[in-house]
Amino acid sequence: MSNGTFYVIGVGPGDPELITLKAVRLLRETPCIYVPTSRLSTQTWVADAVQTYAKAEADIRTVSFSLGADRQARQEHWHQTAATIVAQLRTGEDVAFVSLGDPLLYSTCIYLLRALQEQWPQLPIEIIPGISAYAHCAALTTFAIGEGEQPVTIIPTVTAIHDLQSAINRGGTLVVMKIGRHLQAIIDLLEDNSLIEQAVFVARAGLPNQHIEADLRRLHNSDPKVGNLAIILVHTENL
Ligand SMILES: C[S@@+](CC[C@H](N)C(=O)[O-])C[C@H]1O[C@@H](n2cnc3c(N)ncnc32)[C@H](O)[C@@H]1O
Repeated sequence: MSNGTFYVIGVGPGDPELITLKAVRLLRETPCIYVPTSRLSTQTWVADAVQTYAKAEADIRTVSFSLGADRQARQEHWHQTAATIVAQLRTGEDVAFVSLGDPLLYSTCIYLLRALQEQWPQLPIEIIPGISAYAHCAALTTFAIGEGEQPVTIIPTVTAIHDLQSAINRGGTLVVMKIGRHLQAIIDLLEDNSLIEQAVFVARAGLPNQHIEADLRRLHNSDPKVGNLAIILVHTENL
């Protein structure tokens, strides 16, 4: 009997039409689908996509990826989930794991993939790329991400707020993700660098409560939740 395949399916950033045909086909065909949840519960679109396309008899399993600080506990959790998936694949069953945007950009599934490959280096795997949130945010604001020879830097500020100044110094376009409670600090930094007018803010792109702001000064003193599921795009030079 042959082994099953592990599919990692990117479902796009939230607009139900920004999902690939291949993702839809595999969601329809795969008998067991893992849906990640987190305490931020910003992943509603991921669950909705599975709900919309999975067959009625599909075995849908939610898997909680605690964002707690205990690294060892998190790793243990991924290893246990990986062991369950490996056992399923060895029975010949195909298994899918869904991911917001593109699976290989700051996604939980990267940790799971690592745990799976440790347990089974030749794991039969297929990754279905998804439209990344930054691409949708750029499209919504007609913001050119890369032009000419300008570099593009993607910064996950949740842990690297201090790196933002270095990225500004390097120039080109900045894609600032995982903003959350750092929104005010980012706005202040952009003001200090006279970049506030060259930045756009997009939160919850493609979702019912989408929020686009071309004048970031208006976000001063906003509710801390405004920065959740948001991206800031910045041109560090006048183009
Ligand atoms: C864990 S990362 C996942 C990124 C995802 N894999 C991708 O390719 O876009 C979550 C971050 O992606 C960004 N993001 C995801 N979906 C978004 C959306 N619909 N609108 C704006 N930003 C989004 C936010 O910066 C959020 O903090």
